[in-house]
Amino acid sequence: MPATTMEQLVSLCKRRGFIFAGSDIYGGLQGTYDYGPLGVELKNNIKQAWWRANVYERDDMEGLDAAILMNRLVWKYSGHEETFVDPMVDCRQCQSRWRADHVKNGKCEKCGSTNLTEPRPFNMMFKTAVGPVADGDSFAYLRPETAQGIFVNFKNVVDATSRRLPFGIAQIGKAFRNEITPRNFVFRVREFEQMEIEYFVRPGEDEAWHARWVEDRLHWWTTLGLSRDNLKLYHVPADELAHYSKATVDIFYKYPIGWEEIEGIANRTDYDLGSHSRGQADLGLTAKVSPNTDSTAKLTIPDPETQKPIVPYVIEPSAGVDRGVLALLCEAYEEEIKPNGEKRTVLRLKPSIAPIKAAVVPLKRNAPEIVDACKSLKRALQSTGEMRVVYEDTGNIGKAYSRHDEVGTPYCLTVDFQTLEDKTVTVRDRDTMTQIRLPMDEAYDYIRKGITETFARE
Ligand code: ATP
Ligand code: GLY
Repeated sequence: MPATTMEQLVSLCKRRGFIFAGSDIYGGLQGTYDYGPLGVELKNNIKQAWWRANVYERDDMEGLDAAILMNRLVWKYSGHEETFVDPMVDCRQCQSRWRADHVKNGKCEKCGSTNLTEPRPFNMMFKTAVGPVADGDSFAYLRPETAQGIFVNFKNVVDATSRRLPFGIAQIGKAFRNEITPRNFVFRVREFEQMEIEYFVRPGEDEAWHARWVEDRLHWWTTLGLSRDNLKLYHVPADELAHYSKATVDIFYKYPIGWEEIEGIANRTDYDLGSHSRGQADLGLTAKVSPNTDSTAKLTIPDPETQKPIVPYVIEPSAGVDRGVLALLCEAYEEEIKPNGEKRTVLRLKPSIAPIKAAVVPLKRNAPEIVDACKSLKRALQSTGEMRVVYEDTGNIGKAYSRHDEVGTPYCLTVDFQTLEDKTVTVRDRDTMTQIRLPMDEAYDYIRKGITETFARE
């Protein structure tokens, strides 16, 4: 059974080094978390799986890594300066502030008072000073979505790659939102990562592509290990749509806190490219930047049929890395009773995303020949740079196995005295707890197959 409380995960994450509270030694900074030695591996594996599925395995996608700091005009014309707001209420009793749609039964969460102000809009973009003179105009926003970096580079990418419709641009990166009430561990934080695609299509073909992307993204989360029963689609009602969206379908995951969004797939129409085209025209920038294009619609691409320049429509699958990490940890977490009656905690992560692929364990940590054999086995296993392999001598063998069950390591390889005679090792499987004996030089292929087979089933 997956984790039933957030506390189970918070405790495991801290104890084993997945996720720590940000700035912990100074009392923390609300809404920030740091990924520890195992968390960074898990997160990187998720991002790599996303990049592989969406960039390498498709023929219609390019990658991008745009700057976090962008010209303020980007956020003026994207509409975020005016509309990227959440409704906020103040408690008149204790002066605390809450996101109005998160307030339960009209009561302040801190003091229970019902004496709350009317909701008023609060812009969630962080500001930072740019350059040495902090006057009124020298600020920039930290991006609240990675998407705008894609829109402002649309022409650059088209010109550099000669892409034609339909095609997409994929990006993974940090985003920042001054959430009024960050909460629920890494679910709602002020600094997080997004994996976003802007997929450009002919107007009129947008609805079909939208439906296709929803299915595609839902399927991807299941290939990573989330069960279909714990995922559902939410068709966002018109009055809840973001300012740029014609239609949005959210993918919800059944977290221990309830059903919540892990990814949103929006039909952003020609809103953003259209607004930035207008922005350039308003400011007289079009001619300067590109004298050959139509000054009212610079961010265009030829229509595949008529060859006339058009502003394409955009379908945007926008997934949260941190919410992905959290969902995969919830899904994988299991407490069970072993046949011998002992309790064990195991993270049944797919081997492909497990932070550590194999642990090499010495039967005796003070036997130099065993230790040497372990070290050379570890070197051999990690020689291609494909997998994180660790040397594990922090306790006895039983402790090593429990420790690696708890962090999701699919294989533990134990070097013993027999290894010194016949160059074989035991390989213990995390899920079945069974062991087999293998020649040392077959271990790499065995583990590699375990990981590859996972993909083959996907
Ligand atoms: P919510 O309604 O939960 O606030 P949202 O609708 O504002 O989410 P989007 O604006 O659609 O979220 O952002 C796209 C994705 O970015 C989300 O699906 C989520 O995975 C991630 N995300 C957004 N805000 C946060 C946050 N504060 N902390 C962590 N991830 C976030
Ligand atoms: N780019 C979509 C979002 O962050 O909301």
